[in-house]
Amino acid sequence: MKCDIEIYSEGMWRKAASFTLQSEAEIGRGVKGAGFFEYDVDYAAEYLNDRSIHAVSCLLPVDFEFRRMTVWPSFLLDILPSGANRDYFLKELALPNTPAADWNLLLKGGGNPPGNIRIAQAAANFPTAEFHHGFSYEEIIDRAEYFIEYAKENNAPVAGSSGAQGDAPKFLLTQDHKGRFHADGALPDHLACKHWLVKFPRGKKQSDRDILRNEAAYYKVAQALGAIVGENLFFDSDALFTLRFDRKAAGKGVIRMGLESLASLSSMTDFGARAPMEALCGAIARFSSHPHEDIMEFVFRDILNVAMGNTDNHARNTALIKHPDGNIRIAPLYDFAPMFLDDQGIARTCRWTDAETMGTPDWRKVAQILEKFDIAPEKIRASFADYADKVKTLPDLMDASNVDLWLIERLLNKIDGVYRSLENV
Ligand SMILES: Nc1ncnc2c1ncn2[C@@H]1O[C@H](COP(=O)(O)OP(=O)(O)OP(=O)(O)O)[C@@H](O)[C@H]1O
Ligand SMILES: [Mg+2]
Repeated sequence: MKCDIEIYSEGMWRKAASFTLQSEAEIGRGVKGAGFFEYDVDYAAEYLNDRSIHAVSCLLPVDFEFRRMTVWPSFLLDILPSGANRDYFLKELALPNTPAADWNLLLKGGGNPPGNIRIAQAAANFPTAEFHHGFSYEEIIDRAEYFIEYAKENNAPVAGSSGAQGDAPKFLLTQDHKGRFHADGALPDHLACKHWLVKFPRGKKQSDRDILRNEAAYYKVAQALGAIVGENLFFDSDALFTLRFDRKAAGKGVIRMGLESLASLSSMTDFGARAPMEALCGAIARFSSHPHEDIMEFVFRDILNVAMGNTDNHARNTALIKHPDGNIRIAPLYDFAPMFLDDQGIARTCRWTDAETMGTPDWRKVAQILEKFDIAPEKIRASFADYADKVKTLPDLMDASNVDLWLIERLLNKIDGVYRSLENV
């Protein structure tokens, strides 16, 4: 009933901490189970007081304490398989989908999440297979979401490909210097050249494909408007390729950056990840190395979310990234798509308390809330004026970025409403 947590630091995986359930009965309570968290003594001695890249979470600075936890520490929920990945491991382990499965899923499926931490027991399950020559780009495109099955049939190791969370099926793939693709983790670090997250439509419906195709175009729009967007995003035959921003191949090895969602940073220990927007700003204020800039980036993304119909703005869809130099910044934008098109009718998840009616924020009130984070009122006003100018250009810019015309037309009223509210700030 113990899970060991490893952190990648100075070129290798190191045992850093452990979480132990209080008793076997806690397994049945899933992520609500009580337990104890502690750093390893040797690790703590080396990285004492670190609260960025060497800590498992910003909420748990490295120390010698033995902590009693009434529920799982929130960072473990960033690692626990969820969505399509949860389904995959439930099937592998032949487990029913109940909270009692959580502990096993963590120990079996927490071996390769994005970021710089992993569960040692899960990583130990990775088979040490023979070197495989990898797959071509065309093989991925042709097999789409069945690619990993295909890779398995071809005797390639695939265990590291399924570490990312989220409802849509997706793979973590690593490209070698010859351009061939491998499941993440199957290739030794010194042979890795590029790290990709490849995402497929979340279901078989036309709306699922429409959402993903337009997600690619949405990043272009956000980037053109100055939001922080990762490099090299493209869509091809129902697959969205995004270069991973938590990894960098660096000649002899790979640099792994830390990644912690706003849900984890806000101590959220459930998967709904619904939180007031101002509380999420509070998490950024507390942990970012440049809180004002990162809060304003987060608010700008929220404006785009509202204008462009990205209703699924839950607190695991934004993260802070921990850099090797100790800096902590808002991570590049991800999961930015016209989610209002989803058949299940996703309502806006995170909202501003007292500054929003039925998912429509009053930006003047939001601007007032931001003053509580010590951002100068002139700076807030100037930023909102700039955002208004940017939102005004959205219809043309979306067109130029290949967003579907019918989608732009459906959003015209929304965009105009956001523009008018911004003008009022
Ligand atoms: N470019 C990237 N680099 C590194 N990690 C990423 C990148 N894009 C996404 N991630 C990670 O992968 C996870 C899943 O991606 P994403 O949120 O796009 O999937 P999704 O299935 O659409 O999720 P949801 O269920 O929230 O709709 C993210 O929560 C994030 O941790
Ligand atoms: Mg997501």
